[in-house]
Amino acid sequence: MRKHLVAGNWKMNLTYSEAKQLLSRIIDQKEKYSPSTEVVICPPAIYLASFSEHLRNHPAIKLGAQNCFHQDAGAYTGETSPAQLKSLDVKYCIIGHSERREHFNESYDLLAKKAKALLRHGIQPIFCCGEQLEVRSSNVYKEFIMKQIEESLFQLKPEEIAQVVIAYEPIWAIGTGKTATAIQAQEVQGLIRARVTKQFGEKVASEMTLLYGGSCKAENARELFAQPDVDGGLVGGASLDAAEFLQISNSF
Ligand code: 13P
Repeated sequence: MRKHLVAGNWKMNLTYSEAKQLLSRIIDQKEKYSPSTEVVICPPAIYLASFSEHLRNHPAIKLGAQNCFHQDAGAYTGETSPAQLKSLDVKYCIIGHSERREHFNESYDLLAKKAKALLRHGIQPIFCCGEQLEVRSSNVYKEFIMKQIEESLFQLKPEEIAQVVIAYEPIWAIGTGKTATAIQAQEVQGLIRARVTKQFGEKVASEMTLLYGGSCKAENARELFAQPDVDGGLVGGASLDAAEFLQISNSF
């Protein structure tokens, strides 16, 4: 179902005690979050079990993972399965982040398998896409992004893709302080919804939640979230500050 959603991707940041402090600050301000926005935090995987316990009595804050494997169990040393995430009440899982595509060579097919595996367990994938600066400059970025979506997500059934959250994260905007303009975000996200409409129909496309990510902060969130196809944000650095994360979450 389409909704306003703000997810904090903590990436590989914070020691355990720092992470617990940040979680406490987020929980302390839980009454201030707008009830019409889904607020998700995605801490490092090693903290998920403890966080799941802490969040048991705070359903306003949802738990997300940053990655998963696509098998339920077995001899896959170091990996985490969707079944295991489900057992910790994880509701979302980021897949295909540009950092994983770059450092771990994640392929289109692998991401399709991860999306399907998550959906089998009722976990919503947050599927990332986005172009490098060279691709943006050479003006083939629209084709590049559509290919990322078509090659992975068009392997899903209509009822599956309707559950996927897509995050458009231009790589040149990630961690650089250089945010895409609201017009740039809307252009791409409007195209994504139009492409899904063409492939799967109006109903499926209108149910999808589309996020923007890349130097999303309190000072630019309001303008970004006001765009018709920007349903929220996937926030990196700014999500490590509880007050700023709250402000971003309340920017609709
Ligand atoms: P920043 O918000 O730090 O640019 O990171 C964005 C991101 O990669 C979220 O997944």
